[in-house]
Amino acid sequence: MKKILTIVLTFCAFIAAMACGSNDPEVDGTTGATEQTGGEGEGTAKGKMLVIYFSRADENWQVGYVERGNTAVMVDYIKELADVDVFEIVPEVAYPAAYDECIAYVTEEINENRRPAYKNEITNINDYETVFIGGPIWWARPPMLFRTFFEAHPELADKTIIPFGTHGGSGVSSYTELIKEYYPNATVLESLGIAGASIRNESSRQTVENWLKRLGVDKQSTAIRNVRSRTADNGVTYSPNGMRVNGQHGIQIRNGKKYIHTR
Ligand SMILES: Cc1cc2nc3c(=O)[nH]c(=O)nc-3n(C[C@H](O)[C@H](O)[C@H](O)COP(=O)(O)O)c2cc1C
Repeated sequence: MKKILTIVLTFCAFIAAMACGSNDPEVDGTTGATEQTGGEGEGTAKGKMLVIYFSRADENWQVGYVERGNTAVMVDYIKELADVDVFEIVPEVAYPAAYDECIAYVTEEINENRRPAYKNEITNINDYETVFIGGPIWWARPPMLFRTFFEAHPELADKTIIPFGTHGGSGVSSYTELIKEYYPNATVLESLGIAGASIRNESSRQTVENWLKRLGVDKQSTAIRNVRSRTADNGVTYSPNGMRVNGQHGIQIRNGKKYIHTR
């Protein structure tokens, strides 16, 4: 009951924001909100990391026509700041480019409880320990596409999952809720939601960086996890993405331990 009430309230907040128009400073105040504590909060990322996301380009709330969707821009920051692999969920049938048409289409999709198909598939989720999952908020919840994806991927059940996404004021706690609904045994860490309208600002990139740091994720530490540490590799130097390199700079294995070598 509480969950339904929350969804209704966030839905109403979004409707109210839409009614105000994009130049209204009050709306800017709402949509500029960054939500950093949507997950269980405690804990850090472990092992190899994968980002799974969906994002829609074209016309959107408060940003007009964009070539790269808002969540895709957030994924670009994560890729730049951490050593992650990325899988994009691409719908088989593209969503309408015009915002109003998309709203109508998605309303129908939700009302009919559809499971839209996606084009590509990922078969090696078991290679990863930590999975970031994110996208936009559509009518106060993740797009139905995520239900299709989750139903096809029971192997996410025991992963460490980090929800993220962009929104127009509703926040992204509904990602955490949906993930817990499908994978009650997963470890869900602190989520991050950023207003789509401000995702291209430098401050949003900084917000992503701070969040990743709290999760124990940065380029160096993720790269170092990807480098093997075997005694047989004694003295071998690796690049930050785990490739063997000649020279002094990089990650070195010495007596089975990893060191950052800068001289
Ligand atoms: C069909 C549709 C429904 C939306 N519903 C909501 C909503 O309920 N709450 C909200 O905060 N934002 C809503 N938005 C705004 C998007 O969540 C926001 O623009 C997001 O940044 C889009 O991300 P993307 O470009 O990665 O798809 C909606 C946008 C669309 C297209």
